[in-house]
Amino acid sequence: MSVKNVVTNHLTNRRVLLAISGGIAAYKTPELVRQLIKSGAEVRVIMSASAGQFVTPLTLQVLSGHPVYSDLFELEQAAEQPDHHEQQNSAMNHIELARWADVILIAPATANTITKIAQGMADDLLSTTLLASTAAIMIAPAMNSQMWLAEATQKNITQLQQRGTTIIGPASGELACGEIGEGRLVENSVLLQALNHHFSEGPLSGVQITISAGPTREPIDPVRYISNRSSGKMGYALAEAAQRMGADVRLVSGPVSITPPVGVTLIQVESAREMHSAVMENSGEIFIACAAVADYHLSEVPVQKIKKSNSVLTLTLSPNPDILKEVAQQATPPFTVGFAAETENLEKHALNKMAQKGIDMIAANLVGDVDSGFDHDHNRLSVYWRDGVSQLELASKKIIAEQLMSLVHKQFLTQK
Ligand code: C5P
Repeated sequence: MSVKNVVTNHLTNRRVLLAISGGIAAYKTPELVRQLIKSGAEVRVIMSASAGQFVTPLTLQVLSGHPVYSDLFELEQAAEQPDHHEQQNSAMNHIELARWADVILIAPATANTITKIAQGMADDLLSTTLLASTAAIMIAPAMNSQMWLAEATQKNITQLQQRGTTIIGPASGELACGEIGEGRLVENSVLLQALNHHFSEGPLSGVQITISAGPTREPIDPVRYISNRSSGKMGYALAEAAQRMGADVRLVSGPVSITPPVGVTLIQVESAREMHSAVMENSGEIFIACAAVADYHLSEVPVQKIKKSNSVLTLTLSPNPDILKEVAQQATPPFTVGFAAETENLEKHALNKMAQKGIDMIAANLVGDVDSGFDHDHNRLSVYWRDGVSQLELASKKIIAEQLMSLVHKQFLTQK
């Protein structure tokens, strides 16, 4: 069993517009862009004209994967060129950029840029984009300590705070001018933390969710195993949806070939019994059993590879623990959600399974559909709970996951 990515991360797929103004601390921003991308964020960078004296747009372009502009007219021109293959994706005009961003982080923010934003000036790309945006704004000031403490700067900062802008730092320490005092750009780790915190507020903020996903492998001998066709796509999509809602997600996964969302705690297992112990260790406040767990394992696994012969080979199998049922039977069980794959009488079998396992909700689908379910990118589900039902029509597993998580969230709240 191996555990990965234990740091909670809420930056996956978040759109961060990094606006760099012209202070010496701008040299730290390429590393910030790298770390943001590593955390799963989508990053676009704009700069003030003087920022280019401290860090090259090319470096930021390579790291963010998108063109970096400081000139308003250059950007508008690039965005208007329809024939360039990448333009649509790469060059948005300043209004599109302003709308695109979930958050705008100005780092470093010079006294000049802070003043312009406080006053609502729009005389270059950076200030114009900011004025055009309704996204949350975070400002990380960096300047000489006298400039920071100047009454004018402090008044601007107070005004920005009153408008809901988040001010991060500045930190104290040695400044580029040689003085020691307040005015240093905070460390990149602090900026990442602040962004993470900003996105951590969600309807499931702080709720621990354990999700089982993928197939299990039951060894036959040291080189062979029994498994199934589960791709893990549905479970991984649920993990991503839960994380976007602010939950702390533990994903207990059998062997699959998809990458987990950054920031979920991934626990990789192989057999059903390994999955069982990983889930029982911490089944969270909500447990979603999305894994296709093998019902049996070999009663005795030979130490050596089974040799081929012409006689009939009989394997003796013993039942595996029913993870979902055991979780639901705990003294203080979490809110439990199971899956049911049926070939007929969907409602009857799903309701029976919900009662027999003693779980709170069941998401059922008909297997054998040519367009959905096992190993497909799409799914359709009938979701039942104690006093309700909802039909989730055919859609991508990503969308189905979001819809299911929203039902889980509602029922979790009513049963709390
Ligand atoms: O009993 P059945 O396998 O049909 O139920 C399916 C549901 O039970 C799924 O949610 C699956 O993840 C879960 N399950 C489990 N442990 C098992 C078998 C199934 O958690 N051993």
